[in-house]
Amino acid sequence: MTIRAHVLGAAAGGGLPQWNCGCENCNLARTGHIPAQTQSSLAVSADGHNWAVLNASPDIRTQLAAAPALHPTGLRDMPISSVLVTNGDIDHIAGLLTLREMQRFDLFATSEIHSVLQQNPIFDALRQGVVERCQIALDTSFELACGLTATLFAVPGKVPLFMEGDEVQTDLMGEQTVGVELTAGASRVYYIPGCAQLTDGLRARLQGATALFFDGTLWRDDEMVVAGLGHKTGKRMGHMSMSGADGSMAAFDGLDVGRKIYVHMNNTNPVLRPGSAEKIEAEAAGWTIGQDGMEITL
Ligand code: MLT
Ligand code: MN
Ligand code: ZN
Repeated sequence: MTIRAHVLGAAAGGGLPQWNCGCENCNLARTGHIPAQTQSSLAVSADGHNWAVLNASPDIRTQLAAAPALHPTGLRDMPISSVLVTNGDIDHIAGLLTLREMQRFDLFATSEIHSVLQQNPIFDALRQGVVERCQIALDTSFELACGLTATLFAVPGKVPLFMEGDEVQTDLMGEQTVGVELTAGASRVYYIPGCAQLTDGLRARLQGATALFFDGTLWRDDEMVVAGLGHKTGKRMGHMSMSGADGSMAAFDGLDVGRKIYVHMNNTNPVLRPGSAEKIEAEAAGWTIGQDGMEITL
């Protein structure tokens, strides 16, 4: 058995173009010179019939419309059996509101992320008894979809942006930011759209993986500051950058991972421009730049 992965959205929160952004990439995407990308989501399946959606982005309506494998198979029959969220950020939970309409599915998350949803009564639109909220303990395997086993594990991260207090710890290890291990047959695939740091423990876990979808938010840590778009670095946002001595390309160098695919790219990231020097450099380091609609069998 293999794992089918479909990149529903390759961009980070905001998407490409972002509604209020006049940066070079956003302008190029608006004028059709580079491909637009929707917000962070990956669909996975082991049998090609039952799918799990990993993170429900605000763009999920158009993402599903563009993915025939995820279309209804009957009047109210959906091939999506579950949705899993890896943190409580808006780009990963707002799409849950689109998934109302009394449709049954399992909603998987840690208890901490479920409590973020419970604190926001708007999510009660996903009715109890229709959508089953399943609390998943870290490092405990469960069936995510037919034939597809998943395990959630802590990765360094932070609380959702809208819950930040005055002091923010950006490398918290706990239930607020998780990675997902997916297994089916001999395939072992990881989905980690947000990660502040590649710890030794994480390195050991990922060794020998069939494939990895990993946090590609920024090319360099001060990219948004240099572009004049704000004061936040990647580190402050809980994301490790691609380039540099402490970047993900260097951190994964020498690690045995079959396919390495960047996802969750911020709209400022130069790898989103086909033919850019940065994209070529990332590809030379063995990475694929994720794109909306990309389908991979692993
Ligand atoms: C992030 O990944 O840093 C968040 O999606 C930021 C946000 O919620 O806009
Ligand atoms: Mn995000
Ligand atoms: Zn922009």
